[in-house]
Amino acid sequence: MKNLVLIGFMGSGKTTAGIRLSYLCRLPFLDLDREIERQQGKSISEIFAQDGEACFRQLETDFLKTLPLEKQGFILSAGGGTPLREENRPLLKAAGTVIYLKTSAQSVWERLKGDTTRPLLAGEDPRGRIEELLAKRCGVYEALADLTVETDGRSGEEIAAEIYKRAGMA
Ligand code: S3P
Repeated sequence: MKNLVLIGFMGSGKTTAGIRLSYLCRLPFLDLDREIERQQGKSISEIFAQDGEACFRQLETDFLKTLPLEKQGFILSAGGGTPLREENRPLLKAAGTVIYLKTSAQSVWERLKGDTTRPLLAGEDPRGRIEELLAKRCGVYEALADLTVETDGRSGEEIAAEIYKRAGMA
C-alpha cells in the first residue's frame, strides 16, 4: 500500500480531492495545516500573526519528520508553501507518491476571493499576489511531482478518480 502526497497552490483543491481519495482508497486523510492547528491549538492565521511565518514553516517541517512512514497507508495534503523549503522536499518524497494539483491563477482567484484564512493573500492585491507566488512556485511543484493532474474546471470527485487510477491505487 502506497501513500499519496498532494501538493499544489492554495485553492487548488488538495483538501477536497484528498478527502475523496481517502474514501476511494479507504485510507486515513491527513491535512498538514489542520494537524498543525490541532497541535498548536490555534488557526494558521493566528500562528502567522502571533509567532510569524518562520515559526509556521518550522512547524511544517517538524510535522513531516514525525510522519509514521513505517505504517504505510495515508493520504497527506501538504500546505501550498510546504514544498518551497528545500529540507521538506525529500521528506515529502519519502512520504509517498507526490501528486501536483495544477491550477491556474484565475481558478485560484475564483476559489479564494473573499477567503480570510490565507494570511499570505491578506494584503492589498490578492489577485496579483496569487500570480506572483504561483509563478515563483510552479517550477518547484512540477519538479517534485511524480504525477501532475490538471484541476481547472473539474470537480474534486473527477480529480480524485484520476489520481486513484493514475497512481495505481485501484
Ligand atoms: C500557504 C498555504 C496554506 C497554509 C498557509 C501558507 C502557502 O495551505 O499552509 O496559509 O504558503 O501557500 P493551503 O495550500 O492548504 O491553503
